[in-house]
Amino acid sequence: MTNTLLILPGDGIGPEVMAEVTRIIDWFGARRGLKFDVSEDLVGGAAYDVHGVPLADATMARAQEVDAVLLGAVGGPKYDALDFSVKPERGLLRLRKEMDLFANLRPAQCFDALADFSSLKRDVVSGLDIMIVRELTSGVYFGEPRGIFEEKDERVGINTQRYTESEIDRVARAAFELARKRGNKVCSMEKANVMESGILWREVVQRVHDADYPDVELSHMYADAGGMQLCRWPKQFDVIVTDNLFGDLLSDVAAMLTGSLGMLPSASLGAPMANGRPKALYEPVHGSAPDIAGQGKANPCACILSFAMALRYSFDRGDEATRLERAVEKVLADGVRTADLMQAEGATPVSTSGMGDAILAALD
Ligand code: NAI
Ligand code: MG
Repeated sequence: MTNTLLILPGDGIGPEVMAEVTRIIDWFGARRGLKFDVSEDLVGGAAYDVHGVPLADATMARAQEVDAVLLGAVGGPKYDALDFSVKPERGLLRLRKEMDLFANLRPAQCFDALADFSSLKRDVVSGLDIMIVRELTSGVYFGEPRGIFEEKDERVGINTQRYTESEIDRVARAAFELARKRGNKVCSMEKANVMESGILWREVVQRVHDADYPDVELSHMYADAGGMQLCRWPKQFDVIVTDNLFGDLLSDVAAMLTGSLGMLPSASLGAPMANGRPKALYEPVHGSAPDIAGQGKANPCACILSFAMALRYSFDRGDEATRLERAVEKVLADGVRTADLMQAEGATPVSTSGMGDAILAALD
């Protein structure tokens, strides 16, 4: 089977961090015999500058065909005044929507060398490795009715939390499948105590478990208690599955347990394609960082670790993904740091490509 990859560097530091990923992709081709058929295209402001839209139809069509899309970041001050319909972010939203990427995977992994970056004690976060699976295409961000309406003598703002059984079913399956490749444990979070959509969520997750994943350990937790537990003792979790709104909040909380934005990868997965691989988009959690763009200061690790997720979830090469993650871990343990990973210790930081060099050397 060929491995097809569409690279969309985007704006700001996107192209800078993606350049390092490209070197790593080439390394896997040359040294591990893992060949990728790579195409590159524009997204965000970069696409707007050329096409007048943040994602051209031809790019969208290509994204639907490939095994995995790897995206840098979109947006920047140059585009802030643009009409909402052509803002860079709309390019990313179009990809997520048209590829129907319903499962957003946000790992919170704490590299030992960075454990002191956390606001929590080293002992609480060191060695942490959890995965939050957030439902991404439904729930209160999409439910109808929505809007601001006149009612008697004041206005009312309305959003609707809405989940169908099939929407819950598919994201639950994604979480159980993941758990089988990890610690075999899923905690589902909702508010079944006060929300009917939460009652249905709990029921469907339990049903999917009992029918098809009885070997995976399943627990349920109210999402607010889950927030507390994430801060108190995050290592109790393996995979957490939750809805769009709670997942938005809880994944940001979990992300900060581990320190820097420059280290956080993500994956968004959809339904399987004809070749059995899921529709997939991989991207760092961070944005285009206009404050440091063009200066060679950006940390490429988040984007590189997003490619590691692609190796694991799109190309079924968990062994190679682990190899890449270990290389990042080693480089950090050796004290190699981009500027965002410096504390007040006075060592000299490496540039974006310096970090790439170090990771390539560690891979060798
Ligand atoms: P941001 O994530 O771009 O930057 C926040 C802070 O973190 C900045 O100080 C930045 O320098 C730093 N930072 C981020 N990534 C870094 C990296 N890899 N290495 C070192 N430092 C890093 O978020 P911000 O400033 O709120 O947004 C900037 C632009 O990015 C906006 O136009 C926003 O709309 C867009 N954005 C795009 C996202 C995406 O493409 N998925 C996500 C978030 C924001
Ligand atoms: Mg958020």
